[in-house]
Amino acid sequence: MKTSQVAGLFGLLIPVLIGAAFPRAASRGDDVSYKSDVAPLLQKYCLPCHAEENYNPSELALDSHALLLQGGKHGKAVAPGEPDESIIIQKLTENPPFGERMPMHSKRKMTTTPPTYLSEDEVRILAKWISQGAQDN
Ligand code: HEC
Repeated sequence: MKTSQVAGLFGLLIPVLIGAAFPRAASRGDDVSYKSDVAPLLQKYCLPCHAEENYNPSELALDSHALLLQGGKHGKAVAPGEPDESIIIQKLTENPPFGERMPMHSKRKMTTTPPTYLSEDEVRILAKWISQGAQDN
């Protein structure tokens, strides 16, 4: 192999190695935190409608860990350890078991922008937090 070929090979390898090492370094371990990961998502997407002080027919308030675990009209929204059994995750899917997909979109708003649902990564964060026990961490 010529020196230039070896150099070329390294040029290919180094970005691959960096790419493999980075996501692990950036995710600061595997633990999902209620305070720094889950609460900000709920605040951004859900609190406009699920704040305790607002009326919501679902009776589900998402302002705090205690209220989230308390659940709503259909009972517990979170089944610790069981993301697939958790209503809060089911309601984020295309075909929820009842009612509409969350975050619900106001039908009264005359808007042409497509609805903003959570990204797959964001849903994964919530599901992972539930599978880790849905703790107040
Ligand atoms: C625009 C207002 C609105 C937004 C934003 C919204 N919701 Fe809702 N949500 C509702 C309404 C209204 C219902 C009751 C009707 C239904 O179940 O479809 C509901 C019901 C629910 C229920 C069912 C609770 C029960 O026991 O019946 C869950 C779980 C839920 N929402 C989770 C969420 C989550 C998580 C978010 C944010 C990702 C969110 N919602 C964002 C209005 C909203």
